[in-house]
Order: sequence, then structure tokens, then C-alpha cells
Amino acid sequence: MAFTSKRYDFRNKDADYASLAEELNGLLAGETDFIANAANAAALLFDTLPDINWAGFYFLRQDELVVGPFQGKPACVRIPLGKGVCGTAAVNRTTIVVRDVHEFPGHIACDAASQSEIVVPLLKNDVLIGVLDIDSPSVGRFDDADRRGIERLATIFVASSVDAR
Ligand code: SME
Repeated sequence: MAFTSKRYDFRNKDADYASLAEELNGLLAGETDFIANAANAAALLFDTLPDINWAGFYFLRQDELVVGPFQGKPACVRIPLGKGVCGTAAVNRTTIVVRDVHEFPGHIACDAASQSEIVVPLLKNDVLIGVLDIDSPSVGRFDDADRRGIERLATIFVASSVDAR
């Protein structure tokens, strides 16, 4: 399969996230393998979202989050529920947008370049399965349009994939 992701300038974020959502749908269509789809989703996000330095997944394993497929620098492997931005978003089951990671108490720095972050919890049939985490080297990178768009992408991944554990 040769896949070339489209280029987006995100000047109209709602429109570009809508196109990116269609692209992700197409990329994952016909495949339900959880790891394969997480890997391709992380690669598509890393390739298309401007000004980011990490994009990927943490999945719930017993009572902690364990790193899954991602793009970017090697990351911390295990994050206890309730810890860091990821563990907090997971426990609260709500998206967290961090304007400046230095202002988030307990933020876990995996890549010193990261300045802002968005973490979207992944819920399947109301059960927490993990989080989607995206980091940026710029303060204030993610606004509400990014939140809406990235939540939509996370929903597409969850709907497409079956965790075969
Ligand atoms: N910053 C995250 C840890 C994961 S890395 O950013 C990839 C946190 O505070 O949970």
C-alpha cells in the first residue's frame, strides 16, 4: 500500500480536521487490529499536524497506562492513573489541553522540547481503554478547534479497532 497523506495548513481548522478525519477513516478502513490502527493513526497525525513533536497512544493495562504506538522521541513507558496529564485525563475521562506544561502540576516531561500538550481519553462503550497524547514544542499550540478535531480523530480510531487482549 502506498499512502501519501494530504497537506493541511489548518488555517480553517474545522474544515481541515474534517478532511483529516475522512483520511483517517480511509486509512483504517477494513482493518480492526488495534496495534496496526494505533500505529497508522499515530503516523498520520505526526505527519499532518504542524508544530508537534510527539503523537501517540497510552493504553490502560491493569491500573496504569502503558505506552503504545507513537511517533516522536522515546517516551516514559508507564504512567499511573491520576499522574501526569495522561493519567489525569484518563481518570477524569475528559480531554485536557495544557497551554504551558510548566504550569501543569505533576506534568511528566518525556521530551524536554514539549511546551504544550493535549490528551484525549479513549472510551469504548463507556470503558476507558487509554489516551491519545499529542505534544508541541510551542506554548499554546492547541485551541478549542484542535480539541474538537483531535477528539473526532480519537473517536474514529476507537470505533475502527478491536482490542484483542
Ligand atoms: N507529558 C505526559 C507524559 C507522556 S509524554 O508527553 C509522551 C504526561 O504528563 O502525562
